[in-house]
Amino acid sequence: MCGIVGYVGSKDAYPIIVKGLKRLEYRGYDSAGVAIGNSHGISVLKQKGKVVDLEAYAAGKDNSGSIGIGHTRWATHGAPNQVNAHPHSSGDGKLALIHNGIIENYDSLKKALLEKGHTFESDTDTEVLVHLIEEIKNHEEVSLFEAVRIALSEVVGAYAIVVIEKGINSEFVAARKGSPLLIGVGRDEYYIASDATPIIEYTNEVVYLEDGEIARVNCNDKLEITTISNEKITPYIHELKLSLDTIEKAGFPHFMLKEIYEQPKSILDTMRGRIDLENKELKLGGISDYEQKIINADRIIIVACGTSWHAGLIGEYLFEDLARIPVEVEYASEFRYRNPIIKESDVVLAISQSGETADTLAAIKLAKEKGATVLGVCNVAGSSIPRITHAGIYTHAGPEIGVASTKAFTTQVVVLALMALRIGKDKGTLSNNNYHQIIAQLEVIPEKIEKVLETNSQIKIIAKQFKDATNFLYLGRGYNFPVALEGALKLKEISYIHAEGYPAAEMKHGPIALIDSEMPIVVIATKKGNYEKVVSNIQEVKARGGRLIAIVTEGDKMVKELAEFCIEIPNCFEELAPLLSNIPLQLLSYHIALLRGCNVDQPRNLAKSVTVE
Ligand code: G6P
Repeated sequence: MCGIVGYVGSKDAYPIIVKGLKRLEYRGYDSAGVAIGNSHGISVLKQKGKVVDLEAYAAGKDNSGSIGIGHTRWATHGAPNQVNAHPHSSGDGKLALIHNGIIENYDSLKKALLEKGHTFESDTDTEVLVHLIEEIKNHEEVSLFEAVRIALSEVVGAYAIVVIEKGINSEFVAARKGSPLLIGVGRDEYYIASDATPIIEYTNEVVYLEDGEIARVNCNDKLEITTISNEKITPYIHELKLSLDTIEKAGFPHFMLKEIYEQPKSILDTMRGRIDLENKELKLGGISDYEQKIINADRIIIVACGTSWHAGLIGEYLFEDLARIPVEVEYASEFRYRNPIIKESDVVLAISQSGETADTLAAIKLAKEKGATVLGVCNVAGSSIPRITHAGIYTHAGPEIGVASTKAFTTQVVVLALMALRIGKDKGTLSNNNYHQIIAQLEVIPEKIEKVLETNSQIKIIAKQFKDATNFLYLGRGYNFPVALEGALKLKEISYIHAEGYPAAEMKHGPIALIDSEMPIVVIATKKGNYEKVVSNIQEVKARGGRLIAIVTEGDKMVKELAEFCIEIPNCFEELAPLLSNIPLQLLSYHIALLRGCNVDQPRNLAKSVTVE
């Protein structure tokens, strides 16, 4: 939530910052702003809306200079307007600061600063922080670095911040606790950002700032890092593996569509090196040291949020089915606050695309405190979750930029399937035959997804029929129940149509009352599993006049007679059905949103990386 970019060196900072902000817009797009340092002082330019609105506003204004910071906001404290947009300035205008996170004790800090004569323009917690730094700097007569360090020792909350000072055009100060920040190291220049996407074009050498660290970033000097308690840290330079083409649209009109179409490749990348094709064996290097621990676990607790939580539900079916280990799937935000029972014999599995979700991070910390083994399934390499879990597996989906998660979900399900297969085999709960058969099926899933993608034009036609609906119901059973939840979430997120996912049989206990001749009902009725039972549920819908869209297995006859629209997908094992049945639902939500004129990649009020609780 909120994107941060900064540059110091000899280039013109403004275009670098603006380009970087566009790459980070998935983190929030309520307002955007920059502060550029030059010989006139600090020029702060900010605007409500997206980065393009900022560009229009900043055109022709004083925006040249070789040091700059920029911010794209997802509002927490204060409405999304120009005044509350970042950067925020100190009272004397000598400091400008950008912030991602929440200063929890801002109210008490603000009262103390008001008593000292500070006045505030915005409703934000961030403005309080820049005034606090100013107060300390002036009162204690210390450097900016030192003032930031002292100020942060008084702050409660989460932050990634970058501060610049008027007249000092070779240096900024940055700090992190709870929100991500990485520094790109160039030749006599540095970059800083919330993730690697604004940096990769210029350098692949980065230093990840850790929680509780402050950096003095001076383009004429070596990077200097200390902790808030003033211990010196030696910066460790990582080499980024990201390439520029993976973060561009590559001819697709939207990132979401590109990412839907990338799924066959992403899944191949997820499986690469993990499935030994010749021997049909699995090797999960990331968790190999913990395999025995999982085998002996009393239970697995999966913690996640949003779409990742839906993948976790499929994980529950997989682990219970194949490895016979009891699984609980928890919303991280509930788990962290309800005094959960966690034992040392539990394995906690955190699933997160971004690796930065605040609630998931807090759930991990809690589980670790209680002595559980914590493993991660994440997409973004080097993000916070992989760095605090005991071990884990990357999904290798590649950067996901559309706010609505698509390929991250399918690759999470693949990782969970690989894990359940490996553990089931080693535990002896899965026969050799089943193990090899499911692996063989997994291998052909990318080809089968290619086939599902061919239904795109049919789905476009269906979308036209239903674009004006106000409610949708999604039904599925067994492995396809979480798919129903995920399909409904996708539609809500990007088209703003109310949608609910339900276990098909549970419909009788409530949602059936909503069904009339206007109501679209999407039913996932693939062969295997509870097919006949789902057909009965379809009959119940039909009897009440609902408009049925069904996802069926190729060659299906029974459902075709009942549903108004049928989308066929290739046959596959029940355990892997979500990997195919989910794709038409992604496309359906995409086309409906498009027809309704919605911003598919940046839906209102949402952000991709939720770094506040
Ligand atoms: C946000 C995103 C969702 C995502 C959820 C969890 O709500 O918009 O797409 O599923 O956060 O994020 P994570 O990065 O932890 O998977």
